[in-house]
Amino acid sequence: AHGYDFVVVANRLPVDVSLGDDGEPTWTRSPGGLVTALAPVMASTSGAWVGWGGSPDLELEPFDVDGTELIPVVLTEDDLEKFYEGFSNDTLWPLYHDVIEPPAFHRQWWDSYQKVNRRFAQAAADQAARGATVWVHDYQLQLVPKLLRELRPDLRIGYFHHIPFPPLELFAQLPWRVQVIEGLLGADLVGFQRAGDAANFVRVVRRLTDLTTRGQMVTLNEEEGHTGPGRHVRAAAFPISIDSHAFDQLARTDDVRERALQIRRELGDPEFLLLGVDRLDYTKGIRHRIKAYGELLLDGRLSPQSTTLVQVASPSRENVGAYQQLRDDVELLVGRINGDYGQVGHAPVQYLHQSFPMEEMAALYLAADVMLVTALRDGMNLVAKEYVAARSDDRGALVLSEFTGAADELTGSVLVNPHDIDGMKDAITYAVHMDARESRKRMRRLRRRVLGHDVVAWSEDFLAALNAVPVRATRD
Ligand code: G6P
Repeated sequence: AHGYDFVVVANRLPVDVSLGDDGEPTWTRSPGGLVTALAPVMASTSGAWVGWGGSPDLELEPFDVDGTELIPVVLTEDDLEKFYEGFSNDTLWPLYHDVIEPPAFHRQWWDSYQKVNRRFAQAAADQAARGATVWVHDYQLQLVPKLLRELRPDLRIGYFHHIPFPPLELFAQLPWRVQVIEGLLGADLVGFQRAGDAANFVRVVRRLTDLTTRGQMVTLNEEEGHTGPGRHVRAAAFPISIDSHAFDQLARTDDVRERALQIRRELGDPEFLLLGVDRLDYTKGIRHRIKAYGELLLDGRLSPQSTTLVQVASPSRENVGAYQQLRDDVELLVGRINGDYGQVGHAPVQYLHQSFPMEEMAALYLAADVMLVTALRDGMNLVAKEYVAARSDDRGALVLSEFTGAADELTGSVLVNPHDIDGMKDAITYAVHMDARESRKRMRRLRRRVLGHDVVAWSEDFLAALNAVPVRATRD
């Protein structure tokens, strides 16, 4: 039989592809965690990765990167607008993040979502060997498990949801809620970040379908034409992680340490250096954080002369209206604070609307006294884990929103409710003045967790659980 024994399906390929002036594609490897997580699996079996190359209308032949076959799926300009910017990032994204922004429901977007999900399912079906394992990723592709099972009932199918799964009361708003549930239930295993996400999903299944559930297991009715017992789908939590050891090692190199010192010097050797690192996304609580910081300067609890907040906000989804509005709001707020409290040669907020290579990020983490992660809702938040992995000096403090998946694990952090501005101001003040003994104790605890559970462990756990889900005796 031809085909691959292990197939990953994700909206994005683990590379960025662009067309040069000569029309020749060039690609740069993206440093995402998923690539690292799957590298060992890819190396031990014949693996392929199905995904979009990142530019519209780009038709590419499959190509090999470090032993993994990349299978590009084409997204047209129209798909980009309706499937990606529309349904994925203006319907599902806000709906699944507590409706922080109102989700837009458009039937044309839904049509495009179905069409593109079919295209991904077909590409995976074309690549998988008989009896292969296929691992589908994230909210852009929730219909793929079912579509793929219809095409290829012989496959073992896992799905992992990287973002929050909302409570029934919010999910129920989705006009196509039953189709989305049925889409996910095409998988043998549906993985989530937190136990609460898995519980939300099981409750949604119970309330919106007539299927029976028992604990984490959903039993499907006999499919038409099949006899024997129904199929089982398991829903469970698998908190994702990062390549902790690589980050730890990187932050120990002379170059990164030297750069961290240089960053502090360039900022005028502040007494307190605070850091925020996010995609510029309204789920991240960037405005709440900057507001709290501004009030601390106003109250005189932090001195604008000796404190700096570095806010890295990497550009994201710039064609979606809510993201354009957020950028304006953040930039207004930053401008006000710098205008009110800055001096010639010193701005209390250093705002960087850019992305940086991993080395520079590691240096920033190492330079920062306090890391601020104040998301209003976040599936996991890997920035919090990166900060911890970079701190092999056991110093620094992490202020962490309780509305992140990371909060379940990172108990050595100072937990905050980002909606509570006064509470957040107290937490930032506490973290800034934390004595060295306490911060060392907390950081060691954080590091035990982050270094003891990396992204490879995460994928091993998921794939082991996927293999353990009982499948029907007859697979035809
Ligand atoms: C989140 C999602 C990913 C997504 C990433 C970047 O982490 O869970 O699926 O790839 O954001 O967003 P983008 O829209 O640029 O792919």
